[in-house]
Amino acid sequence: MSARGAPVTPVGWGVAGCGWVARDHALPALATTPGARVVALHDRDPAATARVDVGAPAHTDLGAFLATPGLDAVYVAVPNAAHREVVEAAAAAGKAVLCEKPLAADVADARAMVTAARDAGVLLGTAYDQRWHPAHVRLRELVPEFGTITALRIVYCCWLPADWTPDGRPHDNWRVDRARAGGGAAIDLAPHGLDLAGVLLGEDVVELRALLQRRVQDYPVDDGALLSGRTAGGVLVDLHVAFNTPDALARRRLEVVGTRGMAVAVDTMGQTAGGSLTLFRPDPVDVRFAGDSPFAAQFAAFTAAVAGTSSWPYDAARDLALHRLLLTALGDAR
Ligand SMILES: NC(=O)c1ccc[n+]([C@@H]2O[C@H](COP(=O)([O-])OP(=O)(O)OC[C@H]3O[C@@H](n4cnc5c(N)ncnc54)[C@H](O)[C@@H]3O)[C@@H](O)[C@H]2O)c1
Repeated sequence: MSARGAPVTPVGWGVAGCGWVARDHALPALATTPGARVVALHDRDPAATARVDVGAPAHTDLGAFLATPGLDAVYVAVPNAAHREVVEAAAAAGKAVLCEKPLAADVADARAMVTAARDAGVLLGTAYDQRWHPAHVRLRELVPEFGTITALRIVYCCWLPADWTPDGRPHDNWRVDRARAGGGAAIDLAPHGLDLAGVLLGEDVVELRALLQRRVQDYPVDDGALLSGRTAGGVLVDLHVAFNTPDALARRRLEVVGTRGMAVAVDTMGQTAGGSLTLFRPDPVDVRFAGDSPFAAQFAAFTAAVAGTSSWPYDAARDLALHRLLLTALGDAR
């Protein structure tokens, strides 16, 4: 170990899928992650890797990418239906895998991925970055002070039309293609809330029902959804997710309600470390939180797990169970 606690031999990361989330969030986080270095990039589109300047070789061929010397871990950020192919190949090559949410576009792919990682003996994590948001890390510590928790409510909405693009350039909007995404707003946005509910409450949702809408956008998948769940201990979990809420409106809110108080987090659901956290017991008190961006904290934790200096606290089998619960509810809602 070095004086800063980072592994002496850096963990070699490869990034598979160099689109929006990799370019704008994952690679900047990896650049500052203690004990990590990016050793290879992969994308089937050479124009995508050409837009990333990290000094690592870029491959359009998955096998050549996985054969990079010093490659220890792969971050998978290809569209949902392509996760399985990359995860299975990476696992077979003996690499640890941090795969973007949702785990896959369907349950069969997700199950195959978890099985492949288990059989290969490699670590598989899901990149639920919002677990690592500093406000949510602080909130997790505060939840026991709210008495008996009765409900957790999340609003996580945005504006995503058919011609959506993250940066003004023409973009292949696979998110509204059922074959490649697995659905629309619900499969894209609800996984964060389902994961976060379990992380904050210490118990997962075990029952879930969904109502889907196609109300505003011009595409054949849901542009909004309400999901109602219950944890094994009886906490009610309510999620409103949507691609049909203008970004200028109040559209990101998380509430935890208990018998002795509640917390309201505003604008913390997202890829950056901003937003506010207020406690009501009953008078409002703003809670300060400080820390890395969710992506930076996520990569630091996974890098440390690959280096063997700490363990990854989330089991892939649990992520698979949540994925199955969500897709079953969405299937029942169609
Ligand atoms: N955690 C988060 O907050 C967050 C945010 C955005 C996206 N995501 C997830 O990250 C993944 C990628 O999303 P994005 O918005 O970056 O998408 P994107 O379309 O911007 O980028 C995807 C990239 O993958 C490449 N690609 C497509 N199919 C491929 C294949 N079979 N093999 C290799 N490369 C392939 C494309 O050329 C593109 O460059 C999705 O699973 C998405 O749900 C997570």
